Amino acid sequence: MSHNPQNKPVVAVVGAGPGIGEAVARRFISSGFVAALLARTQDKLQLMTAGISSDFGPGTARYYLTDLTIEAQVLASFSKIQQELGNVEVMVYNAGARRVNGRAILDTSSEEFESFTKINLFGAFWATKCVLPDMLANERGTIIFTGATGSLRGSPGLSSFSPGKFGLRSLAQVVTREYQSKGIHCAHLVVDGPVDGKLIGGVTRRKWEREGEREKLGQVERYIMQPKDLAGIYWWLYEQPRSTWTHELDVRAQKEGMFSKL
Ligand SMILES: NC(=O)c1ccc[n+]([C@@H]2O[C@H](COP(=O)([O-])OP(=O)(O)OC[C@H]3O[C@@H](n4cnc5c(N)ncnc54)[C@H](OP(=O)(O)O)[C@@H]3O)[C@@H](O)[C@H]2O)c1
Repeated sequence: MSHNPQNKPVVAVVGAGPGIGEAVARRFISSGFVAALLARTQDKLQLMTAGISSDFGPGTARYYLTDLTIEAQVLASFSKIQQELGNVEVMVYNAGARRVNGRAILDTSSEEFESFTKINLFGAFWATKCVLPDMLANERGTIIFTGATGSLRGSPGLSSFSPGKFGLRSLAQVVTREYQSKGIHCAHLVVDGPVDGKLIGGVTRRKWEREGEREKLGQVERYIMQPKDLAGIYWWLYEQPRSTWTHELDVRAQKEGMFSKL
């Protein structure tokens, strides 16, 4: 049964949480898209979908419970999205997994390395394979991968994070080299610094509070990237004309050092 009776274009936000994921969904919905939100936690997804529906109207977002470390679940969710909403026009692979406080290689388990790498990389490979056939048939489609400082720099403590993110960057290059000429715009966005949200942004804010950093707390947006501003970058990438497609770009807050984790 179609849940997209007006045949709106579909954005799939793969790894949809209250930070970048929700902001991207809202940005695209505000310009006429319907959003498919993929993540593991039902109550968070319900809350997000309800908030979006109340702001933009019923049916503007639907959620699909998915564990991106399990290929069968990724395939099942995309098949359901295709049945319920139609072809995906934009796929944003946004899921990522890292430790907030790093851990040395010798203290990092193989299980963590494997499960984080599945989230950071394998899920993107599976999701890309799910959306490419329809995109190729239509000769149009946008695929955006969310990267991080760790996509370009290996830093101490992040052995279970960076290798997957490096791989994601190379996957974006491969997708571009294989399919750009067939109408697929793939972009890798290096989010180079903390994003305002519960996890990294929250830790940063709490640190500033402990340290009495009033100036920083008063001008958060100069130090920590705002999800809604990042969402504007995803939209800009989507809107780019075919004569000027960006493959990769990096963004950081005004007072964040370049490749700040080094
Ligand atoms: N936050 C930062 O400071 C920061 C900085 C630089 C780069 N980034 C990048 O930005 C992206 C995340 O954006 P965000 O931090 O704002 O997060 P977000 O959009 O608020 O949430 C991302 C969501 O991904 C979902 N996810 C994680 N593992 C999953 C899995 N195995 N299966 C399905 N869903 C999964 C999580 O939901 P469930 O737990 O419900 O599954 C999580 O809420 C990542 O790629 C990250 O590397 C973030």
